[in-house]
Amino acid sequence: MAVSLYGLFCLLLLTTTSFCFAANVTYDHRALVIDGKRRVLVSGSIHYPRSTPDMWPDLIQKSKDGGLDVIETYVFWNLHEPVRGKYDFEGRNDLVKFVKLVKEAGLFVHLRIGPYVCAEWNYGGFPLWLHFIPGIKLRTDNEPFKAEMKRFTAKIVDLMKQENLYASQGGPIILSQIENEYGNIDSAYGGGAKPYITWAATMATSLNTGVPWVMCQQKDAPNPIIDTCNGFYCDQYTPNSNNKPKMWTENWSGWFSSFGDPLPYRPTEDVAFAVARFYQLGGTFQNYYMYHGGTNFGRSSGGPFITTTYDYDAPIDEYGLLRQPKWGHLKDVHKAIKLCEEAMVETDPKTTSLGSNLEASVYKTESGKCAAFLANVGTQSDATVKFNGNSYSLPAWSVSILPDCKNVVLNTAKINSMSTVTKFVHQSSEDGATETDAFSGWSWIYEPVGISSNNAFTKPGLLEQINTTADQSDYLWYSLSIEMKGDEPFLEDGSQAVLHVDSLGHALNVFINGKVAGGGNGRNSNPKVSLDVPVSLVPGKNNIDLLSSTVGLQNYGAFFDLKGAGVTGPVQLKGLKNGSTADLSSQQWTYQIGLKGEGLGLSTGSSSLWVSQPALPKNQPLVWYKTTFDAPSGSSPVALDFTGLGKGEAWVNGQSIGRYWPTNIASSNGCTNSCNYRGSYSSNKCLKNCGKPTQLLYHVPRSWLKPSGNLLVLFEQAGGDPTKLSFATREVQSICSRVSESHPIPVETWTADEETRKRTGPTLSLGCPHPHQVISKINFASFGTPHGSCGSFSHGRCSSERALSIIEKACVGSRSCSVGVSVNTFGDPCAGTAKTLAVEASCA
Ligand code: GAL
Repeated sequence: MAVSLYGLFCLLLLTTTSFCFAANVTYDHRALVIDGKRRVLVSGSIHYPRSTPDMWPDLIQKSKDGGLDVIETYVFWNLHEPVRGKYDFEGRNDLVKFVKLVKEAGLFVHLRIGPYVCAEWNYGGFPLWLHFIPGIKLRTDNEPFKAEMKRFTAKIVDLMKQENLYASQGGPIILSQIENEYGNIDSAYGGGAKPYITWAATMATSLNTGVPWVMCQQKDAPNPIIDTCNGFYCDQYTPNSNNKPKMWTENWSGWFSSFGDPLPYRPTEDVAFAVARFYQLGGTFQNYYMYHGGTNFGRSSGGPFITTTYDYDAPIDEYGLLRQPKWGHLKDVHKAIKLCEEAMVETDPKTTSLGSNLEASVYKTESGKCAAFLANVGTQSDATVKFNGNSYSLPAWSVSILPDCKNVVLNTAKINSMSTVTKFVHQSSEDGATETDAFSGWSWIYEPVGISSNNAFTKPGLLEQINTTADQSDYLWYSLSIEMKGDEPFLEDGSQAVLHVDSLGHALNVFINGKVAGGGNGRNSNPKVSLDVPVSLVPGKNNIDLLSSTVGLQNYGAFFDLKGAGVTGPVQLKGLKNGSTADLSSQQWTYQIGLKGEGLGLSTGSSSLWVSQPALPKNQPLVWYKTTFDAPSGSSPVALDFTGLGKGEAWVNGQSIGRYWPTNIASSNGCTNSCNYRGSYSSNKCLKNCGKPTQLLYHVPRSWLKPSGNLLVLFEQAGGDPTKLSFATREVQSICSRVSESHPIPVETWTADEETRKRTGPTLSLGCPHPHQVISKINFASFGTPHGSCGSFSHGRCSSERALSIIEKACVGSRSCSVGVSVNTFGDPCAGTAKTLAVEASCA
């Protein structure tokens, strides 16, 4: 009965939805098999809580337009079950809505339940209450842990089933993941590891989702679970059984950033190379981690020290704009690979050497289909290879794709897609108003130094922070009162004693007798803080107040959950009489979890304590600030520029936009503006932003704003000047393209007909990012030997005089334009020289 009702329902919906009748998802040696058909699939990660429900449809559409078949997301346990047994699936946590939107767009879903997810997410996605269950040991063969993990996994699976979201029910979910990269660290768990993984596999399978499960980075994943690869390259991966397909669950499209470190980026040509190599060598499922990275709102970032931005240098940027040429070039790669799909799914590739570092892989089927990939995996020299009697030029570190085993539809190092230069436009420079005009005036409340709450408690010795706060707040006060008898030499001669403090991290502010005495912080690679602070003490009673703050809890590594934080000591007073040292570590310390202002709910702006006199405190630690503002005009994404502020958290209309820390400056070494894409990428190979604040601008989602009267609250921990804050909008400044005579023709004009192809030839295309815009101005055009990249083109030795007028005629006034890159269009400014067309344009 249920089935036929479902069938009826389906018939009714058939006209409006793209999925309806249940799909049968299985797998074999070659691929995932959907309704009996092997598929070559391209997937991308978008984590729903890292954007807003208002942004989801656009992000999903841009993913579809970019050639994705599948959207992947983790499921974030700590968001959905903040208190044991109390669930939250609202707003940004509305997983069902997200999955349904993906379905509406006609895409599939890969649901990585974990429930440990890593993901640069606080505590790897585990809720903190888990840690406090008696006898629990996380991620090992431990009954209390397994019971909780099973309960949550089943909860999510049931929720998806209730909503008919599995492919087996007519929904979009074709795949699920259990655990995450446990194989990277399982040896540390000794004898508990293997039984745990076996249990996890059985538990997941027993939930009867009707679709396959994967475990990533788990070479011993038990049947029927598919073991999959994560990394910058996965072409050499082989699954643990010949009955499982070669799948790549995380192709890192860039890398995450940490406060105090420069920003990693990954060149487009290298991502494209890695993708093409994977499909060349038998892969049939690949997922970009991330396709849209987004924002770590609130206190969701992991770490420690993961930034609030999770941009990741992904094909769609943090603000939801296309990152070009990455998005466009990968779209072309996807199309090229899809042209090979029919041959690829029928057979294994046969790979042969064409010379040193040169490889041809051919998918040739009995029915006569043929697709080939030619690779130059050398990092230095371009090469010319002979293949099937024809010759092909292969730039170093590139793959050419030949959907008919003869003609090249794409080379990963030759980008046909346009580029964009995006920038933040400050409101002031737009409308001529001064920056402070955006805000209606400030009021403030001082956060008291030291203990101010009734809930404070006293204990002998120094407490580890996470066990004490249970992460209810970033903040823990450690307070101590000491008596100076008056006969200490430094009290008489004016010299200072030194307070030594050792902390596991992550950041520390030291106050002596209510005044700032020093502070410091760790970094992602070493969160510890060790301070020697010169202190001025007075005869009699002295107050030592240490404010320890966490900046995102550890998310990766064996036993990451047990990595502590806070002032675990020793805390010593050095330079006492006779050069002696007093160890204060085991004194009676008084503790306060969190800030007074947090207890009062100041982030919502309420309270009668706000002061608004002219004398706004500036550059003083521990101040809550409040103001109201009008939304920046237009519809472009909005950012708050935190120039002038120190470290803290900010709320817009009660919603936390995350931790801010503009004074945390990226180290000055290791950056390069022009990273060579040739050669193996690693997360510190290509860095930018050295010597600058790691993150100055913070995303304020449009959907959180009203036209006017928006509330902004800051908690400033270190000291800053809020009147220096300003708004900026994220805009596309210009669009560019650079295509040479030797580029393949646009992938969308691919046709097996040689004549048509010859007539087409390499083509430069430009298009404005917004539908209502047209190309308003050509800022640069050169056909010849132009130098530079988008935003900094210059003419080379050879340059056609007609280029600018030809491009202006073809493009200005249109939303998009295409021009043949050939002497037929431009004449020949330098016969015998290989020529390139470079264009930069503006849209309005
Ligand atoms: C992987 C992990 C992801 C993410 C990534 C780095 O090891 O599975 O969750 O943390 O590294 O961004």
